[in-house]
Amino acid sequence: MAFKGNITLPKIPESNMALSVLGVFLGLLLEVSTHGPSSVPRSSWRHDDVDLLEFWEPDVFNYTTLLLSEERGVLYVGAREAVYELNMSNVSIKSNQLLWKVPESDMSMCILKGKSKETDCRNYIRVLQVLDEDSLYVCGTHAFQPLCDYLSLQGFRLQDRAEDGRGKCSFDPAQSFTTVMVDGELYSGTAYNFLGSEPIISRSSLSQSLLRTEYSTSWLNEPSFVFADVIREGQNSPDGDDDKIYYFFTEVSVEYEFFGKLLIPRIARVCKGDLGGQRTLQKKWTSFLKAKLVCSMPELNFVFNVVHDVFILKAPHWRDTIIYGVFTSQWGNVGLSAVCAYNMSSVHEVFSKGKFMQKATVEQSHTKWVRFNGITPSPRPGACINSLNRMQNINSSLQLPDKTLQFVKDHPLLEDPVLPIGNGPRLITKDVNYTQIAVQRVQALDGNIYDVIFTGTDKGLLHKSLVLEGEVHTVEEIQLLKNAEPIKTLLLSSQVARFLYAGSDSGVVQSPTAFCEKYLSCVDCVLARDPYCAWDRRSASCVNIFQHDADPRKLFQSLKGDAGICPPVSRLTVGDSQQVLVKPGASADLPCPVRSNLAQVLWKLNGRVLTEASRFLLLSENGLLIYSVMPEDAGRYECWSVEASAGKNFTRLVAAYMLRLELPESVPSIAAQRPSSAASTVTPAEGNDGNGSGLTPARTDAPSLTTPPSSAIKPKSYIPLEVSNLPARTETLDPSAKYIQHNSSVALLSLFLLFFLLFLAALVYNCYMQYLPAPCLRLRSALLGSNKKPQPEYAACEAGLMDPVQEKTDQNGAHPLRTLRDTGYETEPECGNGGVPSGSDEDADDSPVKERPFDVDCTSQPIEYADADAPF
Ligand SMILES: *[C@@H]1O[C@H](CO)[C@@H](O)[C@H](O)[C@H]1NC(C)=O
Ligand SMILES: *[C@@H]1O[C@H](CO)[C@@H](O)[C@H](O)[C@H]1NC(C)=O
Ligand SMILES: *[C@@H]1O[C@H](CO)[C@@H](O)[C@H](O)[C@H]1NC(C)=O
Ligand SMILES: *[C@@H]1O[C@H](CO)[C@@H](O)[C@H](O)[C@H]1NC(C)=O
Repeated sequence: MAFKGNITLPKIPESNMALSVLGVFLGLLLEVSTHGPSSVPRSSWRHDDVDLLEFWEPDVFNYTTLLLSEERGVLYVGAREAVYELNMSNVSIKSNQLLWKVPESDMSMCILKGKSKETDCRNYIRVLQVLDEDSLYVCGTHAFQPLCDYLSLQGFRLQDRAEDGRGKCSFDPAQSFTTVMVDGELYSGTAYNFLGSEPIISRSSLSQSLLRTEYSTSWLNEPSFVFADVIREGQNSPDGDDDKIYYFFTEVSVEYEFFGKLLIPRIARVCKGDLGGQRTLQKKWTSFLKAKLVCSMPELNFVFNVVHDVFILKAPHWRDTIIYGVFTSQWGNVGLSAVCAYNMSSVHEVFSKGKFMQKATVEQSHTKWVRFNGITPSPRPGACINSLNRMQNINSSLQLPDKTLQFVKDHPLLEDPVLPIGNGPRLITKDVNYTQIAVQRVQALDGNIYDVIFTGTDKGLLHKSLVLEGEVHTVEEIQLLKNAEPIKTLLLSSQVARFLYAGSDSGVVQSPTAFCEKYLSCVDCVLARDPYCAWDRRSASCVNIFQHDADPRKLFQSLKGDAGICPPVSRLTVGDSQQVLVKPGASADLPCPVRSNLAQVLWKLNGRVLTEASRFLLLSENGLLIYSVMPEDAGRYECWSVEASAGKNFTRLVAAYMLRLELPESVPSIAAQRPSSAASTVTPAEGNDGNGSGLTPARTDAPSLTTPPSSAIKPKSYIPLEVSNLPARTETLDPSAKYIQHNSSVALLSLFLLFFLLFLAALVYNCYMQYLPAPCLRLRSALLGSNKKPQPEYAACEAGLMDPVQEKTDQNGAHPLRTLRDTGYETEPECGNGGVPSGSDEDADDSPVKERPFDVDCTSQPIEYADADAPF
């Protein structure tokens, strides 16, 4: 405690953080969610919309460790009790596999210690690192006894050189964990004991014993490890500095006083050449320092204090390296995620020049962390050995003076925080929890460099965003995983075939980094503002500029989204609408395939904008549904999309329909009635933009007499003018065919329903009037005849339903409620599941059940139903 005299007491700036956190509860939240820079993905692709390659094996789960080896063209996957080698260009092709199970004896030990046989006591592969040309280093949790081994790539077998995995791999598969292999040495952030209570940042290698952190809450306090990676100093570093390994984690703060545990995101680093101290800090890091990683909106006092993942975008020189992190707030229900970016230069600045913090005893037992204002020993505690030290005859950490070592042992925390570039988040998204991040730097056609940010969510979605002149644009949202489960690992390939790999509990997915071919027109391609995509006039298609060797001067791309650069296209003309024939009273549904979430959709009828009337309903995909078509609904329907971009409005006609009523008398002779309409509808509908496949005119269903049968049978599939060189899509739909079928089947169904309801009503009435006394109940029990005990709610329901019959005899005018219940029973949509035991009739009714409150759930529906029937 040599430094005690130098403490400055409580002028503590750090209470800001606690205050900020309180701010959350003081209603600032509302402000954040309404004023924060947030962005909506322009396009959304469902899992089935896009071609994704997947890999999973039956009964194998937790595909959460991914390792890409681009030289070999393979992706290694560590799952539960298995390691796979997959083809990097197509992950559904498995070239090798290794099963690594836990022996029975270890399993029973694990169970004895109170862990679950089905989940905990298995071998979760968590470390998968390239060791050398022909082997990987693999570690698994191995039933809470972490074990590592060497996997020889020749034959894909373990070499049976098992090593203790303590300090390299976690015991608990559910515990946070990170690892990185640097020059044959394994750096981990994990827990060192069975209970998971002793956190450790360690280095293990063949030649030296484990180097680790001090077991102290000022070094690590319940950390949640997220990421670790090496930042190389470079060969000709002027000051001969060492390479550094950076760790990222969230831990419980020691420096803030807060009710409960306040979490703090951290960046920590150690030097690669660290050998520990001679006397002090023996076999411990002499270079371990950590700082606060800030991701907040200072103007709103809002703090994102949990880091979930980090991606380091490396540059040739470390000073140009950018660190990207995804953050949420500790209070998960806030529903905001943020991405912050950090400049490696400023990180370096903090670690090499930042002030230290010091633990001080304020009152008797109360300790506080305050800034250390004394003179720090020399060499600077926690610094790597550089040329200057070597000149002073300090060639390794073993030769560092005790004073320096003692200081770093007591002061691992720096006061100065690492601030994000621009002092705030790059990107904020509402209502998602980001779990993973990957960033790719690309050069667009305008010559500028863009960092494309890929973020994975806890619901299996992927967002692709970029920051453009201070504004965030989210290009697309892709449903990577079939089920709404978290994306646990995200990996990008750097080579020409650009792919993204995602690992989850249920499998591995491979996705392209762009879906340019999804944009069918130049306007759509440019409005997407995707740096990977450009419109190629020659092939009239939206192409990926990194996989396509077209002359860049013939490509159209504007990351500002100025679609005015597109070559002019022929517009939809009056004759181009698609004919829709509807019977009066039937409904029509007119699709409008607008794929942009940023576009507004307008429907026009005969040139006038449709306002929402009761009979018109906008469907989820921008389609229009018209209930019960009346003669005045006939006319020309147009679907327009209006998208604002680059300060302009881009208005496009997406679909057009000519709605006609089919007159009742012409029903028997459709063919005779057709020619007039068919003749006018042969021209395929065209949209500048639209998904062509949705607009094919239907002619197969209604062959007209005037057109030759051959041409009538073969529909001319719609290809937009601009993409006429593209092969026609195979899954071409025939929407108008759908309407016609739909309409006739709807008519049939309605008729059937009507009769059925009439029949039911008659049955109910007769049963009620006791024209069909017991048989109606018996018939029912005979029909359903199950002896299953009805569920409680149903039992109540049934009991209630039976007593009207009895009461009917007593008091002739049963009160309305009872009557309704009776009706409900006979129409039985809700209560029909529990069969009535065959012996049950009026006598089976027992009063306690009758006393039960009326169960609304199972009878309210039938009441409505009965009411709806009334007109018939
Ligand atoms: C492993 O996968 C299963 C199945 O999806 C999941 O329930 C479990 O939580 C996962 N375990 C870990 C440790 O991730
Ligand atoms: C990072 O910081 C360095 C030095 O302060 C500066 O030259 C560089 O432009 C910064 N990079 C970014 C992306 O802000
Ligand atoms: C985000 O995660 C938190 C905690 O896990 C959860 O309560 C919240 O509903 C999630 N929000 C969204 C939008 O998924
Ligand atoms: C674009 O349209 C919106 C309404 O849809 C209008 O408010 C805005 O002024 C228009 N912008 C331009 C540049 O025409």
